[in-house]
Amino acid sequence: MQSTVFTISFVKLLCLTLPGMTAVSAELPSPSNIRITSINMGLVLEWDPPQNHMGNLTYRSEYKWKSIRNSYRVVCLDTTALCCDFTSHLNKFGVYTFQVRAEREGETSHWVETKEFVMDEHTTLGPPSVTLVSSGANIEVSIEDPVLRISEFKEIYNHATFNITYWKEGQEKKVKRMNGIQLHEVVLELEQWTRYCFQVWVVTERFFKQSQPSNVTCESTAKGKDRPWVMALGMFVVMAVSVPLVVLAFWHCYRVVSFLRPKVKLPGHFTVYLLDPQCSSILALQSSPQPDEVYHEVLPTWTQG
Ligand SMILES: *[C@@H]1O[C@H](CO)[C@@H](O)[C@H](O)[C@H]1NC(C)=O
Ligand SMILES: *[C@@H]1O[C@H](CO)[C@@H](O)[C@H](O)[C@H]1NC(C)=O
Ligand SMILES: *[C@@H]1O[C@H](CO)[C@@H](O)[C@H](O)[C@H]1NC(C)=O
Repeated sequence: MQSTVFTISFVKLLCLTLPGMTAVSAELPSPSNIRITSINMGLVLEWDPPQNHMGNLTYRSEYKWKSIRNSYRVVCLDTTALCCDFTSHLNKFGVYTFQVRAEREGETSHWVETKEFVMDEHTTLGPPSVTLVSSGANIEVSIEDPVLRISEFKEIYNHATFNITYWKEGQEKKVKRMNGIQLHEVVLELEQWTRYCFQVWVVTERFFKQSQPSNVTCESTAKGKDRPWVMALGMFVVMAVSVPLVVLAFWHCYRVVSFLRPKVKLPGHFTVYLLDPQCSSILALQSSPQPDEVYHEVLPTWTQG
């Protein structure tokens, strides 16, 4: 009788002083730091091993589609890995909870459960991919939607737009923004002989999700095409300068000629040549029709500014 009482109190003492070593409910500690990583609708559950764990543990992880099934379904079993990929089991519009527990030789830990995860709302959208093609002073920006693991992007986020930022290489602080772009291809008219860098985000109308930013990609422009209005302006400037000059020259020559008008009449052009070499050179300039050459000299000063 006495010895029984002693044994019981000894066991009690053991339980109190060495928690986790109880013979009655030998229990493994649970995994810790359980977390969901979901990019583009892929979904991986990760966790850390229980603190102070002994021996080799395996893990069992399960998922439950809320409001469709009330019970959990196992996906990873008897695995020593600290993660489990649920992607192929999930639906793009599903609402899920996940749970994981540690196991060792028939012993099991308590379950650790995640919060509710709404696939289309909570998944992280990866970056769009961006391609640049330059042609003259234009750069064409082609954007591709992120590629989802278990669905087409458009089936879920059908009203997505792009935020495009760009800047001259080396001038990162002077960023230009174009938000709410609906096209997958945009052509920008930029300065010629300049290197530009681009970064693009996707913004969805559903849940107003913003994707991760694309990689920064850069491309250089070359010589710009001569645009019609630049050409017209160039011609106008040439005319504005040369016409009064020519008129002035004629007027000057006319006065000189009429003042020294010889008695013998020579052909007008010849007279001018004899009397005033300056006049003749001006007249020669005027009579040689080379608007192309003049134009090319003027243009760069206009387009570079
Ligand atoms: C743990 O696993 C390793 C390799 O699987 C094995 O060599 C070792 O004996 C195991 N330890 C225990 C305590 O079961
Ligand atoms: C971005 O750059 C990294 C490393 O340079 C590369 O691995 C990745 O594929 C690129 N991403 C895209 C969307 O192009
Ligand atoms: C994208 O554009 C929207 C609408 O103008 C704006 O609210 C959002 O902050 C922008 N996001 C980024 C990352 O630039």
